[in-house]
Amino acid sequence: MKHVTIIGPGNLGIALATGMQKNGYVVTLKCKDEQQVIEKQQQFPECTFTEINEDATSDAHVIIFAVQPKDLEETIADMDGHIWEEHIIISVVAGITINSIKKFLRLPNPHIYRAMPNTASAIGQSMTAISTGTKQKYVQELFKSIGSVVCIDELQFPQFTVLSGSGVAIALKFIRAYMQAGIQAGFNEHTSLELAREVLIGAGNLVREKQQHPEVLIDAVTTPNGCTITTLLEMDSRGFTSSLVNAIEKGISKAKLL
Ligand SMILES: NC(=O)c1ccc[n+]([C@@H]2O[C@H](COP(=O)([O-])OP(=O)(O)OC[C@H]3O[C@@H](n4cnc5c(N)ncnc54)[C@H](OP(=O)(O)O)[C@@H]3O)[C@@H](O)[C@H]2O)c1
Repeated sequence: MKHVTIIGPGNLGIALATGMQKNGYVVTLKCKDEQQVIEKQQQFPECTFTEINEDATSDAHVIIFAVQPKDLEETIADMDGHIWEEHIIISVVAGITINSIKKFLRLPNPHIYRAMPNTASAIGQSMTAISTGTKQKYVQELFKSIGSVVCIDELQFPQFTVLSGSGVAIALKFIRAYMQAGIQAGFNEHTSLELAREVLIGAGNLVREKQQHPEVLIDAVTTPNGCTITTLLEMDSRGFTSSLVNAIEKGISKAKLL
């Protein structure tokens, strides 16, 4: 049995635990205090929580830090003496470098990785980046249990943070806008949401299964002088692509400042 401890029972910590548990990992979530254990246990009865450092780390092969960036240094200090060189340490915390984590840990040769999953991990569909290193295969396997994994240079984490970490929210914003188009076209809210959701899922699965460039798939459904080309040209003339690219660029600039 592979034991994973997640420090921080927040949105991402719970999503990771849910996904990993479904794939045979034994997961413990470490809370701040007893009161948080009681609250979280009521909310998520399928998960295991503790506030005791020793219970959290003594059997763990992997320790994942999933707290807010401002809380990471103090959280690591609170766990002094309970994290060893044998542990594989993974941080999903945005903006904190491996070098900083090394300083917080004060261990001679720790195995530290950064990972950037997203909340689709709860349903096994996260797109996760991990940093490279000697235990990379092990870390890759762990995150494959919650979706797809790519290994990237640590310097590319701000870009990936926005493209994947924020990516779910960006795609949801698209779904919301598409839904509004459905309502404007006369469908009710329920039908419009179903329509927007299924179109996005269908398009994603088509790209995945056909392994083709989106432009090839677009050409296949664009009749000369038809309604699809009219709609697509209107989207472009209103700056759809540049507005998305610029927004993501702005998000990346912000991520670099975190
Ligand atoms: N959410 C995402 O989709 C996403 C995606 C990629 C990366 N991330 C990164 O993942 C991290 C967590 O994000 P999140 O959205 O899950 O944040 P969150 O919901 O605020 O969760 C953080 C959790 O950690 C708890 N905590 C604080 N100090 C602790 C300690 N010493 N011991 C144990 N638990 C402690 C917090 O408790 P209190 O609330 O009581 O303080 C809270 O429950 C962030 O650094 C974020 O950058 C998030």
